[in-house]
Amino acid sequence: MVIKSEVLQKLKNIAGDGNFFTDKETLQHFNYDATERRYMPDVVVTPKSTEEISKIMELCYQENIPITPQGGKTGLSGGCLPVKGGVIISFKNMKNILEIDDKNYTATVEPGVVAADFQKAIRDKGLFFPPDPSSTVESTLGGNVAENAGYTRAVKYGVTKDYILGLEAVLPNGKVIHLGGKNIKDVTGYDLVRLLVGSEGTLAVITKIIVKLLPLPESRRTLIGYFDDMTIGADFVVEIFKSGIIPTAIEFMDRMTMKAVESYLNVELPEAEAMILVEVDGNKFAVDDEAEKILKIYEKTGAKDFRLAIDQKEADKFWIIRRESLPSLKAKGGDQLEADIVVPRYFLPAYVKNIHKLADEYKCQVAAYGHAGDGNLHITIIYHKSSFQDLVNANELFARFYEEAIKLGGSLSGEHGIGITAAPYLKMQLGETEIELLRSIKKAFDPKGLLNPGKIFDFKDEE
Ligand code: LAC
Ligand code: ZN
Repeated sequence: MVIKSEVLQKLKNIAGDGNFFTDKETLQHFNYDATERRYMPDVVVTPKSTEEISKIMELCYQENIPITPQGGKTGLSGGCLPVKGGVIISFKNMKNILEIDDKNYTATVEPGVVAADFQKAIRDKGLFFPPDPSSTVESTLGGNVAENAGYTRAVKYGVTKDYILGLEAVLPNGKVIHLGGKNIKDVTGYDLVRLLVGSEGTLAVITKIIVKLLPLPESRRTLIGYFDDMTIGADFVVEIFKSGIIPTAIEFMDRMTMKAVESYLNVELPEAEAMILVEVDGNKFAVDDEAEKILKIYEKTGAKDFRLAIDQKEADKFWIIRRESLPSLKAKGGDQLEADIVVPRYFLPAYVKNIHKLADEYKCQVAAYGHAGDGNLHITIIYHKSSFQDLVNANELFARFYEEAIKLGGSLSGEHGIGITAAPYLKMQLGETEIELLRSIKKAFDPKGLLNPGKIFDFKDEE
């Protein structure tokens, strides 16, 4: 888009020299995320405060310039991509942990804090923030809040939204709002904190986050097991719950994901159709007892190879196998489509079996891994768009995966968001009335449609 030179000058005056960029080389560092799609912004600013963000947004509002907030660029639905150009607000200069309150068990952070840095800062004080996505070394807390990121501990601890107590944010017109605070309970008015969490940067730009913390669990044990038949996994998960255990994580990978991890990490894994990893945490005696029970459940449900990690070092090795699923599959190359569907958790193994059947029908390579304890599955289709037939098949198959999930009462996305990748399928899950309600909320916050435009609703690839 064309931005008048006097407006560019005003933006530069607000952000300051060195925090305002229009040169192509710099812009190219901001035009992609983990979807590997690229959209060029016209301007990138790296503000240092809420006041600067407020001024930038007020100016863009007057001049009808789209704004896209951007964190660590690890998103898998295109949430931080400037699909209509305009200004990217990057949080590279807002990485401060403002307060860790170890009496109230809360922390206040700026949105640019990298998740792993925050984890380290609180762990050193014996505190625990359960949300910790696989992208932890790169993703920012602002991005994780905007996407309501999930992670491996959601079975027991819930998702990001369950740990956000307060937010400061800037509306598209530049007005600063304060929502919630450091209170565990707060029912004053509608729950706008929860509305902003997971709003994918489309309602307001988050500038401060107050999170809830827990005491660090005393102990944790990690187990890994391999199955020859994916559908057994359903009974495995049910048996764990039946035994009275709420595990911290139940994660799984299919054969193709395991093969990808083997070559990416240069490790050897048992030949199997599925890997299921379980973690439990809490009081040492309870956790040891639960780990013993889970070993028995692996045996009872027919796992052919299973083991309890002897120490944290071995547990870390199990976890790396799972956490590196996404990069391992990306390393396979080709063109890739990523879905993040959810189904009621008991249906997950049957759903996985079905997608492999469909993959054969459509002659596509498909890998699946994810959070078995949540029924949340990441599916990767690997194809070659240089072949027209391959491109058509992959896209038809992608839509089928969503359809099959919805048929089971599932959802388009468990944790990666709708963004642009799942937007074309929104109507599969939500009715006209529900979509209209979402649109009215969008309008109430952003009447001119300038904030992160082209997301969630009506995305077309030619944008
Ligand atoms: C994971 C990310 C891709 O579960 O959500 O590894
Ligand atoms: Zn995930």
